[in-house]
Amino acid sequence: MSDRTREFARPSGRPSGRMPFLTAGSPQMVSNRGAREKVVLAPGHSAVDWEARKREETKRIRSRLPQFPMRLRKEDVKLHASRDDCWVSLGGKVYDITGYLDYHPGGVDKLLLVAGKDGTAMFNRYHPWVNFERMLDGCLVGFVL
Ligand code: HEM
Repeated sequence: MSDRTREFARPSGRPSGRMPFLTAGSPQMVSNRGAREKVVLAPGHSAVDWEARKREETKRIRSRLPQFPMRLRKEDVKLHASRDDCWVSLGGKVYDITGYLDYHPGGVDKLLLVAGKDGTAMFNRYHPWVNFERMLDGCLVGFVL
């Protein structure tokens, strides 16, 4: 048996032959067919890093709001649709995700597609299992009327 293969036996005990087995240094999958688009995040931009950054973001966001929480119209959200000032509405809640952009595992570009808009459908299309209310709790700006 080579380093990169391991003998696998079926429950019956009948050997199923040599199966490729990924070990350190082994070639990775040759096809990414069906894989989802994941970007490489810059160092210091993991989910844990985001949690640590959030408190600071909350201060920045709240210091700019005339009141909290805000009651917003769709048109108000639309005014914040750039990389430097990015709001998104998710499930009727509006978040300032400017600081989160570089931490998104799906990349900045995907988030900018919904900048200033209702991103609920897109969000649910890609990852309904992600708990945005928890991840973006400190980024809440207010509610859409
Ligand atoms: C602002 C709210 C959003 C948050 C908090 C968020 C959060 C996340 C998180 C935590 C992941 C990793 C999921 C995992 O590994 O299971 C992820 C991946 C991803 N997201 Fe988002 N996302 C948001 C919005 C969006 C939107 C609007 C899109 C599409 C337009 C999108 C597209 C993607 C893609 C393509 C991935 C990579 C999928 C993969 O893991 O392979 N996300 N996002």
